Amino acid sequence: MEITATIFLLFLTFFVFNDVVPSSYAQQHNAVTLAEIRALTSFKRSVFRDPLGALDGWDASTPSAPCDWRGIVCYNNLVRELRLPHLQLGDQLSNLRELRKLSLHSNNFNVSIPDALSQCALLRAVYLHNNSFSDNLPPSIFNLTNLQVLNIAHNYLSGKIAAGIQYSLRYLDLSSNDFSMQLPSNFPAQSQLQLINFSYNRFSGEIPAKDNLLKGLLPGSIGAASNLQVLALSRNRLSGAVTEILFCKSSGNVTTSLRILQLGFNEFTEVVKPQSNRSCVAALEVLDLHVNQIHGVFPSWLTSLTTLRILDISGNFFTGLLPVDIGNLFNLEDLRVR
Ligand SMILES: *[C@@H]1O[C@H](CO)[C@@H](O)[C@H](O)[C@H]1NC(C)=O
Ligand SMILES: *[C@@H]1O[C@H](CO)[C@@H](O)[C@H](O)[C@H]1NC(C)=O
Ligand SMILES: *[C@@H]1O[C@H](CO)[C@@H](O)[C@H](O)[C@H]1NC(C)=O
Ligand SMILES: *[C@@H]1O[C@H](CO)[C@@H](O)[C@H](O)[C@H]1NC(C)=O
Ligand SMILES: *[C@@H]1O[C@H](CO)[C@@H](O)[C@H](O)[C@H]1NC(C)=O
Ligand SMILES: *[C@@H]1O[C@H](CO)[C@@H](O)[C@H](O)[C@H]1NC(C)=O
Repeated sequence: MEITATIFLLFLTFFVFNDVVPSSYAQQHNAVTLAEIRALTSFKRSVFRDPLGALDGWDASTPSAPCDWRGIVCYNNLVRELRLPHLQLGDQLSNLRELRKLSLHSNNFNVSIPDALSQCALLRAVYLHNNSFSDNLPPSIFNLTNLQVLNIAHNYLSGKIAAGIQYSLRYLDLSSNDFSMQLPSNFPAQSQLQLINFSYNRFSGEIPAKDNLLKGLLPGSIGAASNLQVLALSRNRLSGAVTEILFCKSSGNVTTSLRILQLGFNEFTEVVKPQSNRSCVAALEVLDLHVNQIHGVFPSWLTSLTTLRILDISGNFFTGLLPVDIGNLFNLEDLRVR
């Protein structure tokens, strides 16, 4: 696989340096546009299969090439977006220096995600989900300081995520891959993150029972992610305790806006009661703890989370009866306990 990918990239590099744009067109375009035409033409030639002929119209002789090509969106005559979902494509895009959005989801890419992508320094949104990308995620992706959306769900990516998470990132979906590492603890304070989906991987790590912001893998950093609305960690290998710090307003000015917390199919053993002198102010609507290893009586303090619509604690080892206070959850639509 490693070798195949390397050969593939060498192959593409060959085309980048050998694509010739006829000189009559060259006179009509400035150097930047010519470089973009060359990059896109080499990209077109690297396409394994294009059964729908989607790139047939990608021709340097069109009046406003490349801006009038299918899937290309320009601004001031420079390529800003490339939208080519549902095609069978290869890639080599690092020369598109003005690129803001790259949407290549639901193709059949089966190479590595190219490191060269990080040279498109203005990228804001990268949609590569639902492909067959394999190998590691190049750490340089997290060097894209304008990146707001990274969706690489449903691929065969593995290994560790080696870099820090950019401050600019709002939407991070790594779900349904094969990442295996401790949950990253380096989410920046006051991060912009609104959605984190790491479900269906092999993330591991223990969430400590103690309310210790410094020691915690996840809670400490998530507590700082005050914009976070969705945290999906289902089907991993996480253990330890589920603490209120994940979803309650905690000390200082930190407020949580978490609406959805999915922790199902992990190895959590405990739901920890909040400290007595702290009230739990939450916005939580969905709390999913199903299929873990949680023992004991129903944590009755959960009935103070009156915003809850869905509570799933099934597939655990709770004993006793539900507290009468469960009636406090007047927004509850779905309660699963078995
Ligand atoms: C994933 O890609 C396949 C093939 O292109 C497509 O049929 C399917 O609808 C896509 N699924 C999603 C969730 O986008
Ligand atoms: C990638 O897909 C192409 C085209 O279907 C195939 O020829 C090639 O063997 C695949 N490579 C890998 C590593 O799966
Ligand atoms: C990210 O950028 C910094 C500064 O430009 C550089 O030193 C570092 O090597 C880059 N990291 C990666 C993984 O490209
Ligand atoms: C997270 O990702 C999984 C798998 O892709 C998906 O089933 C789940 O709905 C996602 N969760 C949220 C809250 O988006
Ligand atoms: C808390 O909020 C106040 C007023 O908005 C501000 O002056 C203070 O710096 C904040 N403290 C922290 C730790 O962010
Ligand atoms: C109550 O809160 C204060 C400050 O927030 C903290 O220092 C103290 O340890 C807490 N007391 C208990 C009993 O948890």
